Amino acid sequence: MSIDFERARQETLQYHKAYYSRFKLFEKDSWLENPDQPLMRLLDYLEGKIEILDLGCGVGRNAIPMAQALQKSNKTATITAVDVLAESIDLLKEYASTYKVKNIIEAVLADNDVFMIEPNKYDLVAAISTLEHCQGKNKVAKLMAAIARGAKSGGFVRIEMTTNRRVTDTSTNEPVPTFVETPLDGEEVQEMLQAKDTFAGWNIISLTVDPYEEELAKEDRTVHWCSTQINFTAQKP
Ligand SMILES: C[S@@+](CC[C@H](N)C(=O)[O-])C[C@H]1O[C@@H](n2cnc3c(N)ncnc32)[C@H](O)[C@@H]1O
Repeated sequence: MSIDFERARQETLQYHKAYYSRFKLFEKDSWLENPDQPLMRLLDYLEGKIEILDLGCGVGRNAIPMAQALQKSNKTATITAVDVLAESIDLLKEYASTYKVKNIIEAVLADNDVFMIEPNKYDLVAAISTLEHCQGKNKVAKLMAAIARGAKSGGFVRIEMTTNRRVTDTSTNEPVPTFVETPLDGEEVQEMLQAKDTFAGWNIISLTVDPYEEELAKEDRTVHWCSTQINFTAQKP
């Protein structure tokens, strides 16, 4: 199957731009309401001068609460938060100011596919619902390997990915095309996560595949979204 990466990128950018202007950070009944809890729990294990990388950070659903928690526990930290969408980065900067964590968050406008991850630098690397937006399976694998290299010994990685996307029209049951850059199935992602140059030999803290279903409005129709979510947490030996 050949994928129109440019079209997929435009759809990704448009969806997120519209979503972030419609819902505020932490708004109830949106996916910005709460941070990722398994990610937040990893903060308890971090010590010293903490370096965190949040790839595809959005408007800071995770970066802002992580910064607040680290500040509250008097830990010294820098969170480098990267997103390809200019509106995400602008809003992240505003929220960092509103929530008084500007000194902890370094917001970077960049594409995950080209962002250089310094090896052995990070205590924690988060990539939450963003690797599927790399432009091709090779780039997903390349980024996973860069993430693995970027973690320090003893550092953690938390990855979530949507796989097995299937969207149908609720009234006709016909498939509705969606344009994610790299649609992958759960099994191939699990293989990629356990490959030699990614996380083989790491301490796998959790690897679960969870079903997800939702009915939502898409353009002028109601669609049934069905997918599985890979949740992966590991620690570098
Ligand atoms: C589903 S949102 C998740 C945001 C955030 N990680 C969270 O959990 O709230 C995906 C984010 O990835 C960003 N994104 C998509 N493709 C990207 C790329 N190639 N490089 C960097 N960020 C990207 C989008 O702009 C969007 O903010």
